Amino acid sequence: MKLERYSSRKDLYARAVDIIGNAKNYGATTFGLATGGTMEPLYSIICESNVDFSNCISFNLDEYVGLSANHEQSYTNYMDKYLFRHKPFKETYLPNGLADNPKEEALRYESLLQHNPIDFQLLGIGQNGHIGFNEPGTPFDSLTHLVTLEQSTRQANARFFDSIDEVPTQAITMGIQSIMRAKCILLIAVGEAKRDVLQRVLDSEYTEDIPASVLTKHPNVMILTDLQE
Ligand code: GLP
Repeated sequence: MKLERYSSRKDLYARAVDIIGNAKNYGATTFGLATGGTMEPLYSIICESNVDFSNCISFNLDEYVGLSANHEQSYTNYMDKYLFRHKPFKETYLPNGLADNPKEEALRYESLLQHNPIDFQLLGIGQNGHIGFNEPGTPFDSLTHLVTLEQSTRQANARFFDSIDEVPTQAITMGIQSIMRAKCILLIAVGEAKRDVLQRVLDSEYTEDIPASVLTKHPNVMILTDLQE
């Protein structure tokens, strides 16, 4: 894993856009995308940049179960609002949170992923170490699946909703193995709330209790953070 620390978030996000642009120049066409507060400034800078995704396809990490695509807090709506409507891709995919059978939807999404290997995966990290919505204890060999969200995750994401009761209890997420298949991974961790968990990953703990620790075994991971030692 390569780590770069930035005291300025502006510099950090500029570097992230650079890395993404370089990946494109080196031939990446299939991008794994993430949501969350961490990605909002990134997408905002990408939208102002001249990076062109019109020949690219994207797969998002996850989607809440039970929110319609046009629900303000669905990840489908998030992606449209922060990225896709400003920077068109050739094709974009997210799990369907309203599928009648979410387990079948997870299988369908996994099959799409297996037919479209991800060149470049963008990741945030949850305070409990989750990547996508793979909560602590998720097997490292997991594929796309239906997950019950931890209360702490719902609490962390309640800031985007009117109340915690409105945060869905389930989601469909790419599995850890699905994420690890990406050729190259960029993880962004900003803010004090991520300090402890990032340190545990950097200390090379390798445990299913910290889903992001799986990244220590990936050959091509870059981490950008604004946290100083
Ligand atoms: C969310 C998402 C993750 C995201 C993480 C951190 O629940 N499912 O993909 O990386 O939690 O979110 P934030 O950037 O808002 O801290």
